Amino acid sequence: MTQHYANIVGLGMYAPEKVLTNADLAKIVDTSDEWIVSRSGIRERHIASDKEQCSDMAAAASRDALAMANVDPSDLDLIIVATSSPDNHVPPMSSLVQDKLGAGNVGAYTLVAGCPGWVYAMVQGSAMIQAGLAKNVLVVGAELISRYLDFTDRATCVLFGDAAGAVVLQATDKPCGLLSYELGSDGSGAEHLKMKGCGTELPPREDTIGNREDWYLQMNGREVFKFATRKMVDSLHSVLEKADLTFDDIDYVVPHQANMRIIEYAAGKAKLAPEKMIANVSNYGNTSAASIPLAMCEAYHDGRIKPGQKLVFSSFGAGLTWAAAIFELATP
Ligand code: UT7
Repeated sequence: MTQHYANIVGLGMYAPEKVLTNADLAKIVDTSDEWIVSRSGIRERHIASDKEQCSDMAAAASRDALAMANVDPSDLDLIIVATSSPDNHVPPMSSLVQDKLGAGNVGAYTLVAGCPGWVYAMVQGSAMIQAGLAKNVLVVGAELISRYLDFTDRATCVLFGDAAGAVVLQATDKPCGLLSYELGSDGSGAEHLKMKGCGTELPPREDTIGNREDWYLQMNGREVFKFATRKMVDSLHSVLEKADLTFDDIDYVVPHQANMRIIEYAAGKAKLAPEKMIANVSNYGNTSAASIPLAMCEAYHDGRIKPGQKLVFSSFGAGLTWAAAIFELATP
């Protein structure tokens, strides 16, 4: 029986034109460039215009990924869109992306797993290809998180930004693709990162709508920080062990871009040279499910990421959830 592997053949990204700097934020809330840079490493983030929706950003990143892969949208077999900030709760944003791309009427679904959603989606897309059930799979991470931010809450509004990243996975018989993974979730920490409103617990009705903070993203930064540092280090070791590899075998770690201190902590614990960690959080802030494909796409375009390399993705976020996966890019 032929063995199928899921190779990464296309990468695309989109960030809105408008840039919001730390100095801009210091005019809105009681914060400073010094505080934001020293606590998070973030200097600026991109913010979508009023006319843009999350599906527009997802479609823009996808078009670039499809062009690089030389895959026509009509040749896609499956579309998975990871997001926690969709255009609407119903319909699923994935169907809007499918329509905007002019893809065929293929299966498309939206995956919600917090910031690690895109890594979850990469594992699922790869599994479909490895099982011989799909040839071309589009895996998107897109977030228009600024619309969920309370721009009077300095603890959250300085940290996040809007962007999208997309990858085309394609079946090949060359050994490559997903080498190992770990997906995890611990709902006992759900309260640490949430947006309460708009679900069954708190539907948008006249009697529930009054409590402002329920309609914005809320975060217990210290708790998420502790969880993130622990999980990032543990899951990196776990996927290496599962693949029977060491850090010496890995070309780059592409971590979730939430905070430079978390990335540096993980690098320190793993005794990894800082340059092996791909980081662009300073220019985009935390773009949740978009952050890893965005960072990978930039690193591909500046020549760091190349065919033949082994990459580790590692993420954590609302749920609380975490995910790590090792991918090998096929040589041409
Ligand atoms: O995608 C996954 C989700 N999120 C994360 O990964 C975030 C994880 N957490 C973090 O990155 C960090 O905890 C933060 C960057 C959110 C905060 O850094 P910290 O070093 O943990 O700061 P802190 O929350 O302990 O706050 C320290 C102080 C507080 O003042 P007091 O209580 O010490 O007087 C805050 O009120 O900093 C204050 N503070 C600010 N000051 C200026 C909080 N936000 C700001 C701000 N500007 N924007």
